[in-house]
Amino acid sequence: MKQVLQNNKTGDLKVEEVPHPVLMPRGVLVRNEYSLISKGTERMKVDFARKSMVAKAKSRPDLVKQVLKNVKKEGWVTTFKKVMNRLESSAPLGYSSAGEVIAVGELMEGLKVGDKVACAGAGYANHAEIVSVPMNLCAKIPENVSCSQACFTTLGAIALQGIRQAEINLGENVAVIGLGILGQLTLQMLKASGCKVFGIDIDQNMVNLAKSSDADFGLVIGNENLVSKVISSTCDRGADAVIIAAGTSSNQPIELAGEICRDKGRVVVVGAVNMDVPRKNFYEKELDIRFSRSYGPGRYDPLYEEMGIDYPFGHVRWTEKRNMEEFLNLLQQGKVNTEKLITHKFKIEDAEKAYDLIMKEDERSLAVLLEYEDFSESQPKIYLKQISPDGQKEIPTVNIGFIGAGNFAKNNLLPHLKKMKDVKLKGVVTSTGISAKDVAGKFGFEYCSSEVDQILQNEKINTIFIATRHNLHSELVCRTLKAGKSVFVEKPLATSEGELEEIKRTLDLTQGKILVGFNRRFSPAARLLKKHFQERTTPLVMTYRVNAGFIPFDHWIHDPEVGGGRIIGEVCHFVDLLSFFADSEVSSSFALAADDSRKTPLTNDNVAVSLKFKDGSVGSIIYTSAGDTSYSKERIEIFGANSVGVIDDFEKTVLVSDGKEQKFRHSGSSKGHKEELEAFVESLKQNKPMPISPKGMINTTQTTFKIIESLQTNSSADTELTDLAKESFEKIY
Ligand SMILES: NC(=O)c1ccc[n+]([C@@H]2O[C@H](COP(=O)([O-])OP(=O)(O)OC[C@H]3O[C@@H](n4cnc5c(N)ncnc54)[C@H](OP(=O)(O)O)[C@@H]3O)[C@@H](O)[C@H]2O)c1
Repeated sequence: MKQVLQNNKTGDLKVEEVPHPVLMPRGVLVRNEYSLISKGTERMKVDFARKSMVAKAKSRPDLVKQVLKNVKKEGWVTTFKKVMNRLESSAPLGYSSAGEVIAVGELMEGLKVGDKVACAGAGYANHAEIVSVPMNLCAKIPENVSCSQACFTTLGAIALQGIRQAEINLGENVAVIGLGILGQLTLQMLKASGCKVFGIDIDQNMVNLAKSSDADFGLVIGNENLVSKVISSTCDRGADAVIIAAGTSSNQPIELAGEICRDKGRVVVVGAVNMDVPRKNFYEKELDIRFSRSYGPGRYDPLYEEMGIDYPFGHVRWTEKRNMEEFLNLLQQGKVNTEKLITHKFKIEDAEKAYDLIMKEDERSLAVLLEYEDFSESQPKIYLKQISPDGQKEIPTVNIGFIGAGNFAKNNLLPHLKKMKDVKLKGVVTSTGISAKDVAGKFGFEYCSSEVDQILQNEKINTIFIATRHNLHSELVCRTLKAGKSVFVEKPLATSEGELEEIKRTLDLTQGKILVGFNRRFSPAARLLKKHFQERTTPLVMTYRVNAGFIPFDHWIHDPEVGGGRIIGEVCHFVDLLSFFADSEVSSSFALAADDSRKTPLTNDNVAVSLKFKDGSVGSIIYTSAGDTSYSKERIEIFGANSVGVIDDFEKTVLVSDGKEQKFRHSGSSKGHKEELEAFVESLKQNKPMPISPKGMINTTQTTFKIIESLQTNSSADTELTDLAKESFEKIY
């Protein structure tokens, strides 16, 4: 399918053929008929992307701060790679579209195939032939409303939210400053609500357009009578409310709002304007300044937007979706006229011309629509390279299909795999298709897709990597094993006992090969320390302190349905490493969590865990998000057989025995990703057992569930392999 893409580094725009996005369980796939280029917002986006690196840094000091913070945490090299990965990728454009539903997710409510819908949201309602939109960001289009009208819905909902924030009453005088699409829609809806409206802009043409929509007054900024005209037309009181819908770095709109607003009036800021609020007017009139957050309640709440969890109608009358629906109703009743705002229509193929137009100051344009008339059938996979003809013997033994290539895979797995001699990167699948194409191009995959089956059913692929978020791991592992392929899955192996049981059953059945991405045990530091204790005959006493850093509560890792929390998602690494040192599985665990009323045992990230291993060793893990991340992240101390071993951030190892201390430094603070991949590939090539036994990986995963159980019950919990698994694993390995 075709999609408009922007290069993050250069700002260059192009229309490319990419795989269609994946259907979300609580969402729909929509074949767009129209999408609206929101001139103000998209111009800012394109402008920013076209700036040089220095200019980008100057205009976004917040991003620079974030990068510097990351440097302290992860070092220059890692940070540089992350920044470059981001810059070298393409970004989607667009956030307001309308079209026909072509597929419905299994948990989606209220829509069926064939319904016409308006779609909202950056990253969802893209300028693309097919878009994947979650439940609360799409609204059914009523009869007699066309898609060319409905594609204004996102902007309509933004305008409505601005009006709601202004708490308008029938008969009030309201001024709208800035008469772009947003301002014009605001003005039309204010008229429909029975207000007297002043349309104000720097451009006479926009003022004329406002007048044609029955604005009571149209005023051009720069006209010296503007303020007195508003005051005199409101019985010398001033406007009851002023809605700023302009987008400018100038301070003029907020200053003007202060001048024309009445005593104790309301000023609502919808557009991005400079906010150097002049004290005199705002103080003396005791003006109320309010911001309007995008399309309404629900905006930026992942539970609402991504998970489809609605707010109760009685408590939140107007949500984003309900604002969208209301705008569509107003269109149906003829109270809003979008037709007169449309200045240009372009076919999707000509999107570059549309952007050239909106970027030119001197060209007159307002609403610019992209049309998707000659729909090209979506290809399930897109080839980037010539592939070897069928039947020809492939020389590399490890032919990889990759599912999920986000931050982690792009920074830590793919750069190593790309360089490996006997590895061939065949196909990559991600959810948005556009990222799949970026990754395929950057790392040299033959093809990309958004359909998992495109690699699971490819007979030439013998090995699958899974690096999606956690909720998909177990299902994909089972499907891969059943397809007769080997699997490398990022941690965690599973997020619940039920998922783990299913994996055990599938392993029993298929006897397939699997490695979980417990990379730390492959690091040079861990190998050195393990060797130091290899002659021991007595148990170890181990401590592992992790200064993990705070992750905001709305991050997917904390979401029980997606990430499963940090104990399952991250503490598994530390359980695995201690098991590696002890050369033994965990037999029982006991955990305590710091009191935090905001968190459940599942999502607590300040815990002290005690582990007992089958060989008699003990270990304790202190895992905290309460520290300063500029301080060392991980420190391991091991005592046993009259020796001591210490690892500091995988950069430094200290070994002590017989009164002597040996110090080692490991360049690049390797956490073992490269070595782990080499070991995995080597095992496959030589048809040897995996470097970590399935028993061990299952034990570690189960231990994380037991840690949570211990937090819930305040008692210790035993980790045991089932007899069934024990038997068959011993048979296989
Ligand atoms: N071993 C370690 O040290 C370490 C460290 C960090 C993370 N990790 C692990 O790495 C994994 C990924 O984490 P991340 O931070 O990279 O997450 P992320 O940036 O969100 O990446 C997730 C990837 O999965 C893709 N995806 C989502 N739904 C999909 C679907 N239905 N079908 C196919 N692909 C889908 C996404 O596609 P789009 O690109 O199209 O959105 C994206 O490429 C997690 O398991 C995490 O625990 C490991």
